[in-house]
Amino acid sequence: MKTVPDFQKWKVARTPITMVTCYDAATSKILNETSVDALLVGDSCAMVVHGFDSTIHATLEMMVAHTAATRRGAPDKVIVADMPFLSFRGSVEAATQSVMQLMRAGANGVKLERCKGNAELISRLVDAGIPVMGHLGLTPQSIHEFGGFKMQARNDLAAQTLQEEALELEEAGCFSIVLECIPSHVAERVTEALAIPTIGIGCGPETSGQVLVINDLLGLDSRFQPPFARRYMDADQMITRAIEGYCEDVREREYPGEGEYKV
Ligand code: KIV
Repeated sequence: MKTVPDFQKWKVARTPITMVTCYDAATSKILNETSVDALLVGDSCAMVVHGFDSTIHATLEMMVAHTAATRRGAPDKVIVADMPFLSFRGSVEAATQSVMQLMRAGANGVKLERCKGNAELISRLVDAGIPVMGHLGLTPQSIHEFGGFKMQARNDLAAQTLQEEALELEEAGCFSIVLECIPSHVAERVTEALAIPTIGIGCGPETSGQVLVINDLLGLDSRFQPPFARRYMDADQMITRAIEGYCEDVREREYPGEGEYKV
């Protein structure tokens, strides 16, 4: 069984780390039987599960429920739960209570976005034995500051600031950092500068690992395909075909068939 300390071993051994998002028990039950290293209960659930247009709509209640469901299906996986929008920007005490709920729901650690203003909380959590994952670059909770889902760290100054923030997160005790949508040469430089692993999404191949939103990987929405996401199946079309097959069978009185009911 893989654990949070394995992240450091994988960084040292340069073993690529695999992570996917997960939000429910049906999916995590399948993922539990795969070799994927870790599951992220991302606040992307607000968008891909609840249908909102940004992650700002994720609440602590949602994140706790999705974390608990994911854990029930995947007893053996490392699960990292996202701290939702602003849930960690009040007092350290209030943030700690939120973390407590996510950990009690079954998370092995929490992820929180950005660096500025978070170092003290991260140190306090790490001191209390809570593994913390950082998240820099295109931090979706800040889309209004960025003016949309846009690539970050595109100039030298922004890249330098991001690298300094990554080092600050490492210093505060993060066990790894998600880098989202930054140029690949910046992701590579940051990854080389850090002793802890980076997990990339939309940053090229040079990070210590990769994370994808499972809905994008499975092709659950054929109308939405982030340019960096590779689709490994067309679940949208497969589900449509299955449902149409079922409807046709019911209408043709082909279902239920012999052996599918009791006389
Ligand atoms: O919420 C999420 O799914 C994430 C990943 C995109 C890294 O934070």
